[in-house]
Amino acid sequence: PEEEDEATPWKVQERWEDAQARKSRLKPGGGKARGDEYELITEDQIEFIKHEYLTGERDVDEESEDEREREQRERMERAKTKKEKIRAERAALPIYPYRDELLDAIEKHQVLIIVAETGAGKTTQIPQYLMEAGYSNMGKIGCTQPRRVAAMSVAARVAQEMDVKLGGEVGYSIRFEDCTSDKTVIKYMTDGMLLREFLGEPDLATYSVMIIDEAHERTLSTDVLFGLVKDITRFREDLKLLISSATLDAEKFSDYFDNAPIFKVPGRRYPVDIMYTKAPEADYVDAAVVTVLQIHVTQPTGDILVFLTGQEEIENAEEALKERTRGKGSKIGELMVCPIYANLPTDLQAKIFEPTPEGARKVVLATNIAETSVTIDGIRYVIDTGLVKQNSYNPRSGMEQLLVTPVSKAAAQQRAGRAGRTAPGKCYRLYTAWSYEHELEDNTIPEIQRTNLGNVVLMLKSLGINDLVGFDFMDPPPSETLIRALEQLYALGALNDRGELTKLGRRMAELPLDPMLSKTLIASEAGGVSEEIATVCAMLSVGSAVFYRPKDKAIHADSAHAAFHRGDVGDHVALMNVYNAWAETDFSQHFCYENFVQERAMKRARDIRDQLVGLMERVEVEMVSDVDNHDAIRKAVTAGFFYHAAQLQKDGSYKTVKNRQTVHLHPSSGLREVLPRWVVYHELVLTSKEYVRGVSEIKPEWLVEIAPHYYDKKDVRDEAGKKMPKGKGRASMTA
Ligand code: CDP
Ligand code: MG
Repeated sequence: PEEEDEATPWKVQERWEDAQARKSRLKPGGGKARGDEYELITEDQIEFIKHEYLTGERDVDEESEDEREREQRERMERAKTKKEKIRAERAALPIYPYRDELLDAIEKHQVLIIVAETGAGKTTQIPQYLMEAGYSNMGKIGCTQPRRVAAMSVAARVAQEMDVKLGGEVGYSIRFEDCTSDKTVIKYMTDGMLLREFLGEPDLATYSVMIIDEAHERTLSTDVLFGLVKDITRFREDLKLLISSATLDAEKFSDYFDNAPIFKVPGRRYPVDIMYTKAPEADYVDAAVVTVLQIHVTQPTGDILVFLTGQEEIENAEEALKERTRGKGSKIGELMVCPIYANLPTDLQAKIFEPTPEGARKVVLATNIAETSVTIDGIRYVIDTGLVKQNSYNPRSGMEQLLVTPVSKAAAQQRAGRAGRTAPGKCYRLYTAWSYEHELEDNTIPEIQRTNLGNVVLMLKSLGINDLVGFDFMDPPPSETLIRALEQLYALGALNDRGELTKLGRRMAELPLDPMLSKTLIASEAGGVSEEIATVCAMLSVGSAVFYRPKDKAIHADSAHAAFHRGDVGDHVALMNVYNAWAETDFSQHFCYENFVQERAMKRARDIRDQLVGLMERVEVEMVSDVDNHDAIRKAVTAGFFYHAAQLQKDGSYKTVKNRQTVHLHPSSGLREVLPRWVVYHELVLTSKEYVRGVSEIKPEWLVEIAPHYYDKKDVRDEAGKKMPKGKGRASMTA
């Protein structure tokens, strides 16, 4: 606590008193104030017990460090112009004192591992240091990010620091969006996009430095990049390779990169109190909301960061918080709620970095994107649900799903650490200390070991890497998963029976999509429906966020949505119908409003569609249209998604054709009332049940016709005479 605002101790005092006053108002005389607003927003308190202390990691000479910080703060306060402010801010970052040493090390070594805690300035500063040192004269400075939001926001920040236009000297490249130009010398990109660049430039010839950032995240693309860039450094001695990580297990990276030296920037972390709930919380979203309110009315100034698992949850929590604090801002202080997740629209991203107004408190509702990729200043409280949405893949069944899973201990520690970046903080874990000890794994399993590798195998094959088992993976994927991917690509026609890339496979690899979607796009030409399939794929890519259903207008929303499903055509055609109807109104906002469709999602679909059409032209798919040929549309979908074929069972559930897995139609599917005998689905989501989403009816014989390597006649025998349950709503749906 000594570290806390040493310069202005009176301020802290005031804040504490303030909080004390609030507390006593909350419970005057030990009881709840009747009719008091505070009672309303904190009615069901959660009891936390303090258990542990995440110690500070100030292994630098503390006194001189504090001295320096104070000087910097003063300088920052004195800075008048925008330029001076930025200079002062940059100089205040933990990495700054190590600038010259770091540049020296980079000059001496071709490969360097850089370790510094989150927020130290790795991502925003190192590329600028390199540019200032002249590396940009020899080629671009590239920097990869596992997440698109991070790539965009960091590029925007650096452009601002350098006072240049985003897309000029500083740019970014993410899927479906290239914001770079000939002038770009500092280029941020997702790791997936760098993988794509290898296809056109296998030696990264236009780069002088490549930074593989956030290496500790061990995403699938980053892991594959490791192998590729390691190989390049052997013949491009002029290329500098930096691997940067926020965690301390850097030895593993060093070992892998032939004992590359590790450059460690000492941390400047403040202590964090760690609290656990006394008992497990069943509804963690609600528990998070309650905890936010609890902190807001009882704790001193400081922003709150909440870790949730996905967009939907974040939106629910946002709504609940707004609801419960509505009109109370003047009494309890404004609560400024800022969501951040992977698909957050660009215009909302800037909000989370804006300074919190005087007297208000910022609450950032985030997915694990805020764990290490994105740093938000001013966070003093972290609420950790202990959960994350993660890929999980079962190679035996070929089923891939996004599952809400407990985080690892390492991730939980990272999350807690976010509270102690600029001052001592508190972390509220919405699980028990027992759970932490007994139920969390030590480390997160790298994605490469828990995901479908179809994409990666196709990519590596098209880079001419045929020996996948011999590929230099840091942690190799299970061989079963590799074999599965090869089989799948063979069935899709991307590989021949010797495992070599076919012409189709080459075209598929050009598309930045999952192989199943790539195949669908390419197959659409033969059916004369490439325009329609471009629309369908774009709509599928924006996810589940197209339709919305406000509780008070559910009936209106349902009937509006049902109109797009008219004729039991299936969800793919329905998505196309929505898009086309919107396009007919000249993309009007009113249309979205009237039909309970998210305009933002639609706009994104339009952007993606434009990109897809460009990509299809590149791989020479002719754009043809036959909008009423629903069979052709569903056949094109089947050409890519025949793996996801399922057959109706007597009880109204479905069984996947090959692997005999039981699945159910998702409540959002327009076919729920129809229950066709045979379907293909877009994806599997696991909530209370195994649901399939994005479903269309197919004819079983299509499977044999389209995927003869995978299905034969006996797979698709339709046991005639068996009674199938009748769809209840059929008559009304077709009326
Ligand atoms: O990469 P690392 O975690 O080491 O730090 P960084 O992302 O370079 O962040 C350095 C500083 O820049 C932090 O204080 C961030 O809050 C700030 N930053 C920002 O204000 N806006 C962004 N879009 C990104 C970073
Ligand atoms: Mg970073």
